[in-house]
Amino acid sequence: MKRVLDIHHITVHFGSRTILKDVSFSVHEGEIVSLIGPNGAGKTTLFNVISGLVPAFSGDVLFLGRPITGWPPYKVCRAGIARTFQIARPFPDMTAEENVLIGLWFGKNPADGPRTLSDQREAADLLDLVGLHEKRRTPAKELTLSEQRRLEVARALATRPSLLLLDEIAAGLSPHAVNQAAQLVLSLRERGMTILLVDHFLNLTARVSDRLVALDQGEKIVEGSPQEVLHHPEVLSAYLGERETAEEA
Ligand SMILES: Nc1ncnc2c1ncn2[C@@H]1O[C@H](COP(=O)(O)OP(=O)(O)OP(=O)(O)O)[C@@H](O)[C@H]1O
Ligand SMILES: [Mg+2]
Repeated sequence: MKRVLDIHHITVHFGSRTILKDVSFSVHEGEIVSLIGPNGAGKTTLFNVISGLVPAFSGDVLFLGRPITGWPPYKVCRAGIARTFQIARPFPDMTAEENVLIGLWFGKNPADGPRTLSDQREAADLLDLVGLHEKRRTPAKELTLSEQRRLEVARALATRPSLLLLDEIAAGLSPHAVNQAAQLVLSLRERGMTILLVDHFLNLTARVSDRLVALDQGEKIVEGSPQEVLHHPEVLSAYLGERETAEEA
C-alpha cells in the first residue's frame, strides 16, 4: 500500500517546553487514521507542523515519499494536503459557495480564469456532499457551528487534496450533528480519500478509523487497531489522568 504521509521523528519545542517528542507514524493511501490523546497532547500542533504553520525542531514530514518539512502552508496545500481547523475559519462575509470557490482557485491545479460554470458546478457538488446545498447563498457567518465545520470540509476538498487533515469536526456539536459528521467522514472514505483525523469523540473515531495513534504529553504511546488502542492501559491512564485533573480543578 502506498504511503501518503510519513511522520519521521518529529520534535517541536515552544520556548523551553517540548510539545512533541520524537513522534513517528505513517498513513497509507485510502486509510483513515485518527490521532487521539487528552487535551494538550500535541495533536493540533502536529497538524500545524504538517500544514506548515509551526516549524519542527527536528524530524521530517514526508508526503508521497517527498520531504515537505518547513514548506509554507500554500505550498503544502498545492502539493495536495488540505486541513480544517479546530475553530472553524470560513471567510465570514462570503457565501458558502464563495468559500468553496476559494478552495477551488487556490488548491492543487487551481483554476486560473474568472468564475466559470464548471467551477460553480463543482462547488455545488461539494456543498451537496456536505449537506449544505440549500445554504449555498448564505454568508458563512450566518451558518451554525455544525454547518461551518462542514463548509470547511467542502472548502478543503475543493483544493483536490490527496490527504485531508480534519481537526475536531465533531467538537461542540449535538449528538445528531456528531452523527452527521461521522456519516460525512464515512462518505469521504467511500470516495477513497486518505484522512488523518483528530477527535475527542472516541466512539466516532473508533467507528470510522482503520487505525489509531495515541499521543500523550507530546509522545506517541501506542498505535494499532481502534480496539487495541482504546483498551491499552497507557491510553486508559492518559485519559483517566485528565479526568482526575479536571475534577481537582
Ligand atoms: N503557539 C503556542 N505557543 C505556546 N504553546 C502552545 C502553542 N500552541 C499550543 N501550545 C501548547 O502546546 C501543547 C499542545 O497543544 P495542542 O493544541 O497541540 O494540543 P491538542 O492535543 O490539540 O489539545 P486539544 O485536544 O485541547 O485540542 C499545549 O500544552 C498547548 O498549551
Ligand atoms: Mg487540538
